[in-house]
Amino acid sequence: MSASAADIDLARKSTLEKVIQSGTLRVGLEAGYMPFEMTDKKGNIVGFDVDMVKEMAKAMGVKLELVNTAWDGILPGLMSNKYDLIASGMTVNQERNLKVNFANPYIIVGQTALINKKWANEISSYKDLNNPAYIITSKLGTTGEQAAKRMFPKATYKSFETEDQAMLETLNGKATAMVYDLPMTSIFFAQRGKEADMKFLDKPFTYEPLGWAINKGDPDFLNWLNNFLVQMKNDGRYDRIYSKWFDS
Ligand code: ARG
Repeated sequence: MSASAADIDLARKSTLEKVIQSGTLRVGLEAGYMPFEMTDKKGNIVGFDVDMVKEMAKAMGVKLELVNTAWDGILPGLMSNKYDLIASGMTVNQERNLKVNFANPYIIVGQTALINKKWANEISSYKDLNNPAYIITSKLGTTGEQAAKRMFPKATYKSFETEDQAMLETLNGKATAMVYDLPMTSIFFAQRGKEADMKFLDKPFTYEPLGWAINKGDPDFLNWLNNFLVQMKNDGRYDRIYSKWFDS
């Protein structure tokens, strides 16, 4: 058989077609980013992103498979086809966009800061964080890490593998502040920060659209995703899922 013709045919195929043929949509995410993807008491991965991709799989008429992946390997995993798309609260930034495509943003977030009570009186704006006396934490490979290094170059930056570790370091007073995406810091503040008298700088100081990432060179898939999102946003499904995870 003419293998090359078959190869060319496969390479030309949209991920969308491959998903339909295989009957399963594989979604890469990293559980631990509340309220987008986290593990519940029963060990199931749940959250805003999860409910959105459930609707996505339903609309494609296929099964959903969640592929839990460490954050620092999440883009390589997409590029080596371990899953069909990433739905993991990923900020659409220009650096990532050189490697992958993003569907239109499904929500806008931004960086905020949680301050340990020891420093609460002397820090009134995020700008105050750019001080050699301070230690700032965030999560490895995230836009929180990028923002901390870029915006507060005079402070010492300390990176952690998980959001939880970055939060604990600050909660314990070993670090001054944790810099991270707003939805998650506000949950941390409500659950642990408030009672520890942390200060919450909750006005975002970066602009961060979150979007689904797919491999480059696949206009069919991109077109499907963008139209699916517009539909969800306007027929009530997006609002229902949004209020389930964000209005409490
Ligand atoms: N929005 C941030 C970023 O893109 C953090 C996302 C972290 N997501 C996760 N599932 N842990 O870097």
